[in-house]
Amino acid sequence: MQDNFKTIIEPFKIKMVEAISMSNKEERKLFLQKAYYNLFLLNSDEVIIDLLTDSGTGTMSSKQWAALIDGDESYAGSRSYREMKKIVYELSKMKHIFPTHQGRASERILFSCVVKKDISIVPNNTHFDTTRANIEYLGGTALDFTQDSEDPIFKGNMDLKLLKDCFEKNKKNIPLCMITITNNSRGGLPVSLKNIKETKALCDQFNIPLFIDACRFAENSYFIQQYESEYKNTSILKIIQEIFSYCDGFTMSAKKDAIVNIGGLLCFNDDKLAEGVTNQLILTEGFTTYGGLAGRDMAAMAQGLKEVQDESYLKYRITSTKYLGQAIKKIGIPIIEPIGGHAIYIDAKKFLPHIPVSQLPAQALACNLYIEGGVRSVEIGSLMFGRLDTSSKKEVPHDMELLRLAIPRRTYTQSHIDYVIETFEKIYKQKKDISGLQIVKQAPLLRHFSAHLKPV
Ligand SMILES: Cc1ncc(COP(=O)(O)O)c(C=O)c1O
Repeated sequence: MQDNFKTIIEPFKIKMVEAISMSNKEERKLFLQKAYYNLFLLNSDEVIIDLLTDSGTGTMSSKQWAALIDGDESYAGSRSYREMKKIVYELSKMKHIFPTHQGRASERILFSCVVKKDISIVPNNTHFDTTRANIEYLGGTALDFTQDSEDPIFKGNMDLKLLKDCFEKNKKNIPLCMITITNNSRGGLPVSLKNIKETKALCDQFNIPLFIDACRFAENSYFIQQYESEYKNTSILKIIQEIFSYCDGFTMSAKKDAIVNIGGLLCFNDDKLAEGVTNQLILTEGFTTYGGLAGRDMAAMAQGLKEVQDESYLKYRITSTKYLGQAIKKIGIPIIEPIGGHAIYIDAKKFLPHIPVSQLPAQALACNLYIEGGVRSVEIGSLMFGRLDTSSKKEVPHDMELLRLAIPRRTYTQSHIDYVIETFEKIYKQKKDISGLQIVKQAPLLRHFSAHLKPV
């Protein structure tokens, strides 16, 4: 660990670089026009700093690249699978460890084995979109029970009172309960170990298995070590092991805390479930020792799962996210607090009160941020979650208009982040000139990916 310095440095040096394609404001105006004011339709080389997502956009280490070269591409019984299994077992002690190509594949396979149409209910602190979608696609009901907690940090916690009510009413129809760490849909906010332990105790009382959506298990563990006093002197590894000791299984998108560009995991203890999962996996992903991945992908995942436990890395990761959030707040731009692990959320409704919700203030801010500095972010508001009511032909807005800046792991340096902050300083000065947008073309589902917009 670093000595007690004010400056927390990136705990890595750069061995390979990827050029950023630079552009100016006039060029970006044209790029945006061509992309119909939808940042998903930009080419990546039209972007200077890409904060669209932290999923699969992280930078692998030299040891991960070395592991990649050494990957074993055998169809069955691959050494890379065994290396990956060894580290996953060390962390979680799970009996069945299945690789998948990414998190949503784990979700689809798990739920297709346990969800019954029009009957099953799956509670969570907050379901991520793909988790919810996979349950609903199978005819199940996905319920969210996030605590409106007094706790200043662990605002991702499960609301145990609501969960108990749900268990009491629906006990027979709940095939499993989930808890998402960190709670992505609630701003990447952490869940305390106490809350995980109490959720498990409640599940045991009702004989319901507990699964963790564990994409950001290491970031969550760091928050526990820093802010849950009982764990202040506990190593990250011990915290991770304790977290997993309270669950019966987990799904994981390895594109987050395993710091790889592709990969996922589905792990649990139940032998009967393993039979169904094996069939599904072979049918749609691949044999049980590769599950839709190349051997080299599993080799890189094994190494990433070791590296992510490094406290210097986690300190830098959480501190650098906070650095960006605090700087944006200091400029006078309203952000959602407390600041989570992987992203900053800006309250665009508050920042741009002159733009009505019907004119998509968060998307307007995203477009201006792009034009001003080439910074790509993502709208989490009425473009993403609102919808067009087909009978009244009226837009039904979302309750929040947020702009998310998601930070890829080990990818940008502090000067890149300072550049983002400077872009916000410019935006702040011209906020009154920012005008709204309207949708001119949209798909019936997941419209934000492909919608065409134009300035009002
Ligand atoms: C909490 C959570 N669960 C599941 C997923 C889905 O993972 P993937 O994108 O690998 O399918 C994500 C992805 O962002 C996530 O954040």
